[in-house]
Amino acid sequence: MSTPGSTGFSSMPSATLMRIRSAVLRMADKAAFDWRYGTETSNFVANAVLRTSSANKPFGIEYQPTPTGEFRRMLREVPPPLDSLHFLDYGCGKGRTLLLAAQAGFRRITGLDYAPDMVEIARRNIAIFQPRVPGARMEVLAADAMEFEPPTGNCVLFFYNPFNEKVMAPVVQNLRRSQAAHPRQWYVMLYNCSKCQHLFDDLQFLRPLAGRPRRRSWLTQTLCEWKVYGPSGAVAEGDQGRPVIR
Ligand SMILES: C[S@@+](CC[C@H](N)C(=O)[O-])C[C@H]1O[C@@H](n2cnc3c(N)ncnc32)[C@H](O)[C@@H]1O
Repeated sequence: MSTPGSTGFSSMPSATLMRIRSAVLRMADKAAFDWRYGTETSNFVANAVLRTSSANKPFGIEYQPTPTGEFRRMLREVPPPLDSLHFLDYGCGKGRTLLLAAQAGFRRITGLDYAPDMVEIARRNIAIFQPRVPGARMEVLAADAMEFEPPTGNCVLFFYNPFNEKVMAPVVQNLRRSQAAHPRQWYVMLYNCSKCQHLFDDLQFLRPLAGRPRRRSWLTQTLCEWKVYGPSGAVAEGDQGRPVIR
């Protein structure tokens, strides 16, 4: 209750103040990257608003970017040199991870997203950022992850909770088939993918390198968790796979 002379804030219950504080910090954390580079990767887009002709829309998750610090922490688990690996983001949205990957030293970078509006924004962000990373070749494909065939080279595959298991299971099955047909070195980075993590745990050609259990960020109060896998040395069992992009 307001007392005479009190401000609106001081009269608010502390739980409300905490909620406001964490919302402001969350916005600032997301937007810091864009303020610095003049890009637009921060604003949330609800799944209902994402336009796509894909039949997988009911299984897709809304757009929000991976926090910059979390992405860099995960990437530290991938042994250098990064320029020999192709970075792929399945469901790249506005493309923040593509820019961070280029900044980290990847030279071949591909994002794919099934929503043409996201693809257009990601391409615009790349055009703005490209002068800072002249050696990086970044591309964004308008594609459904379920239809995508990974390239033949050594790769880092990144997933930030893009879709649920209905799509992730066939995507992982396709990865297994592709590895069986063309064994190569893959690293997989999962951010907030706990419900689908078991699908990757079951892949014999991967082994866990590091992970962070689910916990609340002290700064933004958002829940986050991640896991990074590297090559196990085992060859995937399976059929001969579909043709791959070179
Ligand atoms: C949580 S956002 C991740 C954004 C980005 N990877 C990042 O980390 O900043 C999920 C994205 O996945 C895309 N998506 C959802 N289902 C998809 C599918 N089946 N194929 C391709 N993209 C999909 C959405 O359009 C959305 O942009």
